[in-house]
Amino acid sequence: MGASLLPSPPFLAVFLFALVTFSANPEPALAITRHYKFDVMLQNVTRLCHTKSIVTVNGKFPGPRIVAREGDRLVIKVVNHVQNNISIHWHGIRQLRSGWADGPAYITQCPIQTGQSYVYNYTIVGQRGTLWWHAHISWLRSTLYGPIILLPKRGTPYPFAKPYKQVPIIFGEWFNADPEAIVNQAMQTGGGPNVSDAYTINGLPGPLYNCSANDTFKLKVKPGKTYLLRMINAALNDELFFSIANHTVTVVDVDAVYVKPFDTETLLIAPGQTTNVLLKTKPEYPNARFFMSARPYETGQGTFDNSTVAGILEYEAPHKTIQSNHSAENLPLYKPNLPPLNDTSYATNFSTKLRSLASADFPANVPLKVDRQFFFTVSLGTNPCSKNQTCQGPNGTRFAASVNNVSFIMPTTALLQAHHFGQSKGVYSPYFPITPLIPFNYTGTPPNNTMVGNGTKLVVLPFNTSVELIMQDTSILGAESHPLHLHGFNFFVVGQGFGNFDPNKDPAKFNLVDPVERNTVGVPSGGWVAIRFLADNPGVWFMHCHLEVHTTWGLKMAWVVLDGELPNQKLLPPPADLPQC
Ligand code: C2O
Repeated sequence: MGASLLPSPPFLAVFLFALVTFSANPEPALAITRHYKFDVMLQNVTRLCHTKSIVTVNGKFPGPRIVAREGDRLVIKVVNHVQNNISIHWHGIRQLRSGWADGPAYITQCPIQTGQSYVYNYTIVGQRGTLWWHAHISWLRSTLYGPIILLPKRGTPYPFAKPYKQVPIIFGEWFNADPEAIVNQAMQTGGGPNVSDAYTINGLPGPLYNCSANDTFKLKVKPGKTYLLRMINAALNDELFFSIANHTVTVVDVDAVYVKPFDTETLLIAPGQTTNVLLKTKPEYPNARFFMSARPYETGQGTFDNSTVAGILEYEAPHKTIQSNHSAENLPLYKPNLPPLNDTSYATNFSTKLRSLASADFPANVPLKVDRQFFFTVSLGTNPCSKNQTCQGPNGTRFAASVNNVSFIMPTTALLQAHHFGQSKGVYSPYFPITPLIPFNYTGTPPNNTMVGNGTKLVVLPFNTSVELIMQDTSILGAESHPLHLHGFNFFVVGQGFGNFDPNKDPAKFNLVDPVERNTVGVPSGGWVAIRFLADNPGVWFMHCHLEVHTTWGLKMAWVVLDGELPNQKLLPPPADLPQC
């Protein structure tokens, strides 16, 4: 299969099959409204010689890409033609005052039921780069995902050389079995869910798997050009290392925020994260082909899919003859060296290179004063097995996961509705613990009692509260890296370290000048991370580990940000077609 190349921006408009209409609002001058229709439907797909019917958008796997410029409005009608309840999240989109369009099921909306539809309507404000959309209910995001490409405003250049072509590279995880059956079984037994059978690049597992050589992503390039690779980790449960043999890339943007460019041979990308890199191709035709490979970075103690996905970087032959076309297969094929699967020092080294651009045009508006401080443990744990059952979790228990030892119970109605209509009683408690109720040596010998508490608890913040949050990994059931994702905000990663966070020593080392700004950050295995954000977006905002298995086990919570005084500081009213539970 050939590479799918994005034409350069001037030609994008004609390339869009989306219906594009000009906004009635003349300010800002060039912002437009872009309409998309997402028909959620089943589609037969074959990978690794297994054919199955998967849930898709418009029959595509991976799903269609959304393209918008900063300032544009997106109006996306999602129609559910499948038996499953559906909701779609626009991962990383700020959703300023438009929380009803955020998408996590039972947090900002009830899911879209079979035969129903919902229109997601929101504006892109101050974001440029790559984000992505995915189903946000159960494990349906394993097949329901696609890129969101955010171009700068028309006439506004990138803060780097204009790329010749742009290519989305979206990593996924392929299961021969139905992921819904896998998660249901795990929930029943209390044990760890089965792992995936392959990783994929743009839906294709590549030649290192059985029965897969024809399902290989090929990136065809010309020598001496710069390509912008828009990388997205849509895998369910695995952080990934990625490298292209014999090439270095320049990281320029993460989570739709520009960063200070730096060169690297290998990237680390956690589920939920996006990374834009520039790939400068070799000046001359190299007479070789190059694997572009990814495999996991894993720190936990459970089993995981330790396989490698590969695509192929192929140079266009100088004089394209029939003969040179045929001989591409005979060219030497180079393979990249990826770090060992548990290479935490590589991971740390990579993440500390990420810095905000912090220029006059793209300042890093790090909150310098802090109104409220929070200290959250993020941790695995256990729940008791019910009577008359045998469970397959640790010592016959059920696996759980928690934040400050609260394992989140999903409500049966949407939290945002409950909040907005003043009906939170009986739906959620506003008393989420701001520090662990029982402090312990988080990264030392784990406590004997690994049981979690359970509840639907939220933190309530007044509008414009400036928040500092320390997230601390624990050694309960083994230290593990957790990619934590916050909806509705970007945050600044002001510090990180190993062991227990030290409130007396560590804050002195915080970077308040050019910390990276993003929406998903890895809490280091056996360590902590400190983030800051300004709660300037009223609504209910989910925060969770983006390893889907940990979310399932309860590693999630939510923030309520209250309306401000001014009219433009209030959550907009819900749209008329907001789904009912
Ligand atoms: Cu990409 Cu709540 O997730």
